[in-house]
Amino acid sequence: MALRPIPEDAPNPAVRRKIVAVASGKGGVGKTWFSISLSQALGNKGHRTLLFDGDLGLANVDIQLGLMPKQDLAGVIAGKLTLPQAVTNYSEGQFDILAGRSGAGNLAMLPVQRLVTLRDNLMRLAEKYDRVILDLSAGVDRTVQTLAAAAGTTLVVTTDEPTSLTDAYAFIKLTIADHPDADLRVVVNMADSSNSGRETYETLRKACYNFLSKEIPLAGVIRSDNRVRESIRRQTALLTRHPTSDAAQDIDAIAARLQREI
Ligand SMILES: Nc1ncnc2c1ncn2[C@@H]1O[C@H](COP(=O)(O)OP(=O)(O)O)[C@@H](O)[C@H]1O
Ligand SMILES: [Mg+2]
Repeated sequence: MALRPIPEDAPNPAVRRKIVAVASGKGGVGKTWFSISLSQALGNKGHRTLLFDGDLGLANVDIQLGLMPKQDLAGVIAGKLTLPQAVTNYSEGQFDILAGRSGAGNLAMLPVQRLVTLRDNLMRLAEKYDRVILDLSAGVDRTVQTLAAAAGTTLVVTTDEPTSLTDAYAFIKLTIADHPDADLRVVVNMADSSNSGRETYETLRKACYNFLSKEIPLAGVIRSDNRVRESIRRQTALLTRHPTSDAAQDIDAIAARLQREI
């Protein structure tokens, strides 16, 4: 499965370094919640941040935040809006959003060339930001691969469940088959404790090292926290509602580390 090559007139590598993809093998691991929270943590630290809802058919960035954006990616795909015109400022979280729309069709339905154009326009838009976070759909399909090619770093989210770990491993394996030098890092979400999260990471790290000869660093562990579910139910961002909760602290630590390391 070859990644779509970045075109020759693509923005310089400094732009790619700004773009962080959030991926997973399995769905339901907290990717969208994590992408939102990471964007807010970066925004709070004063970084101009854009969150791209790349899971278009199941768009739920706007749902988790209780937003009804006037413009979204569906308008871009329909040819009614340019990508910059589709940006919504989410002032409460201090970041911008390129929202999807649930049921509006899927990015996977787009012809490859249009998907590549969308990605390249996103890279151009990224020049205006310090960070762009891509919330991708689960798995390693063509859409995920094409969009992930824009990112300098991909965070692979997993939980401690064997199915999630196996799928994270498969994602890593498939990605490095085409891109041995890809900067992949692991986020363990919904961990019972910071220690057990590190053990989960260690299991995945060893598998990648032993079978793929690839060292995958840890981006961070996020503890399971009932306030995550509660804030999603209330359609309010965790970092707004419970800024000192365990999960919010873990997100802050990941944001700080990312800023130091990439
Ligand atoms: N750290 C956490 N602690 C507790 N529950 C969490 C945590 N992270 C995510 N969740 C739960 O997981 C559910 C799925 O999250 P979501 O972001 O929609 O996952 P994905 O985008 O990977 O499908 C959320 O609705 C929330 O209830
Ligand atoms: Mg999601």
